[in-house]
Amino acid sequence: MSGNLVVLPTPDALAEHVASWLTERARSSSGAFRLVLSGGHTPAPLYARLASSPWRDRFPWHRTEFYWGDERCVPGDDPESNSGMARRQLLAHVPVAPDHVHPIPGEMAPPGAAAAYEQMLRDVYGAPALDPARPLFDVTLLGLGDDGHTASLFPGTEALAERARWVTTARPEGKTPRVTLTYPALESSRCVAFLVAGESKTSILRRVRGGASDAPAARLRPVGEYVWFVDRAAAGEEAER
Ligand code: 6PG
Repeated sequence: MSGNLVVLPTPDALAEHVASWLTERARSSSGAFRLVLSGGHTPAPLYARLASSPWRDRFPWHRTEFYWGDERCVPGDDPESNSGMARRQLLAHVPVAPDHVHPIPGEMAPPGAAAAYEQMLRDVYGAPALDPARPLFDVTLLGLGDDGHTASLFPGTEALAERARWVTTARPEGKTPRVTLTYPALESSRCVAFLVAGESKTSILRRVRGGASDAPAARLRPVGEYVWFVDRAAAGEEAER
């Protein structure tokens, strides 16, 4: 499994390190910095850290555009909403222009939301096919589920086979219906960065980094750089290597 592994001692150290890394990466870019945010719980401390000193004052908010890797099909103010979490932790506290924030419309019916988001991404990209030499995004943040899912690409679902569309729907067992970017869109990034924390992820992290083909996260093939930011609890014995 490719991808550099960076192990931080605690979740707070993970948030601090990634806030610094992301800020420097954004500052060293030129033009629009297209950032894909992930959902769930793990990135919340990172978003809160970016909204506070010194990163808040260093980050190039004026030229950063925000996208999401997936969204639950709920209104933006629902506690389950990924864009709602990012707004509470980050976007409500930093000077970002509203037209630079592109949430997946969770309040829409899933098929319509997926089609609308895909069209928006195609308009942003400006070409019908994704060129590996010209990635759609600058940084794509992703999380890892206990079952090896990432974004809303869940094991055994049709979305895993989708290579034409950039956005599709997902109805994982027992979970809220979702809209998710597909592998081609998630892979079209200058850098894919996974954030993984907690000992509950130790086993799945080891399996995914070992290339377990039944784990959707293990099937990602980014066109650009690939890094895993994990805390020591999730890294387990890999931290000792
Ligand atoms: C979501 C995320 C999902 C998440 C993983 C890990 O909408 O839930 O996109 O892919 O990153 O499930 O979630 P935790 O960080 O809460 O463990």
